This record gives sequence, structure tokens and C-alpha cells, in this order.
Amino acid sequence: MVNQLLKEQTLVLIKPDGVERGLVGEIIGRFEKVGLRLRALKLVRVTPDLAFQHYGQNENWFQKVGQKVLAFYQKHGFDPGEMLGTMEPAKIGHLVQKWNVDYLTAGPVVAMVWEGPQAVSLVRKIVGPTYPDEAPPGTIRGDFSHESVLLANAQKRSVRNLIHASDSPESAKLEIELWFHQDEVI
Ligand code: PPS
Repeated sequence: MVNQLLKEQTLVLIKPDGVERGLVGEIIGRFEKVGLRLRALKLVRVTPDLAFQHYGQNENWFQKVGQKVLAFYQKHGFDPGEMLGTMEPAKIGHLVQKWNVDYLTAGPVVAMVWEGPQAVSLVRKIVGPTYPDEAPPGTIRGDFSHESVLLANAQKRSVRNLIHASDSPESAKLEIELWFHQDEVI
């Protein structure tokens, strides 16, 4: 049990905007400084196939993301039907998947595996909330992105939030298997 807790792993992707802006060293430094251990690292030119798999491994994902987008529109008083052409969460989830695939395949991505006690939640705390305009200063997204979700949605594109980090130990396991061969994780 203790060994299992010490060795929790999570997948982190530095998305194309993070690589292009020269933020790789800064981002890696934040995970190192908190004491996490780097177990795998590579620069990847992402194929659409890999990106589609990454954002569609689990059918619940589409429903969850669609609900999140609907809640966002409701909060800001916009009509999702008018702006996205549908009110169905799963269909909205598929739209966001396509936006995310375009984003992730726009340039090289740095893929990493980080390890440590509660690595999944620790990394997500350091990265900050999904929407950069809600991410507090001190988090990676809060410090390095001013992305407006309203603008991204209006432009029908993904939120440029620099990083992907697994949201649970279960999805971390699936995502690490998708991005790395067993012998690439040291
Ligand atoms: S998260 O970070 O896992 O909690 O995000 P989640 O909401 O579960 O997953 C959504 C992923 O889609 C990306 N994305 C958007 N979500 C909602 N609304 C809009 N407009 C949108 N555009 C992109 C979001 O960044 C999540 O991808 P990752 O790679 O995890 O950041």
C-alpha cells in the first residue's frame, strides 16, 4: 500500500503553445521543485489518430465535457443552441474533441510521466483549473495564460491552456499506456 502511494504516476502533456512559447523548462522546473520524479519524457509530433484516442478513450468523457460547456454558456447567459448548433451534451463533447485534436496536432508536444505521492492531484493543483481565466496566480495556467474561454468558444476552438494533466489515477494509467511503451517509462 505504502509503495503504491509513493509510486502514483500521472501523464502530463505540454501542448503546442507551451512548447512554441519556450515554457518547457519553466514547466518541468515547477514539477521538479515540488519533489515529483520524472519517469518518462519525449517530444512528440502528434497524429490525429493519437489525439482522437487521447480525448475519446472513455464514452463518459463526451457527456461530461458537453455538460461543462452547457453550464458555462448558461452561467454567461449565452444560447448554446445558437452558438454551437446543438444542446445535446454528447454532441457538444464531440465538437470539443475535434477542437482539441486540432490544438494537439498543431505542433510538437512534450509528453511526460511524473511520479510521487498523490501525483495526479498534486500536478493538477500546480497546473491550475482547466479554464486559464479562472486559474489563480501561482499556478502554471494562471501565470502563463490569459486565455478567455468565451473567446475560444466564440471562435469554435479549443481553450489554449498549455497543459494536459490526467484527472484520476485510472485515466492516468490508460493515458500513460497510450503515450508510452512500457520500456520508455524508467
Ligand atoms: S479537465 O481539465 O480534465 O477537468 O477538463 P475536462 O473539462 O474534464 O476536459 C475537457 C477537455 O477539453 C478541453 N477543452 C474544453 N473544455 C471545455 N470547454 C471548452 N470550450 C474546451 N476547449 C477545450 C479542456 O482543456 C480539457 O482538455 P485537457 O487536455 O484535459 O486540458
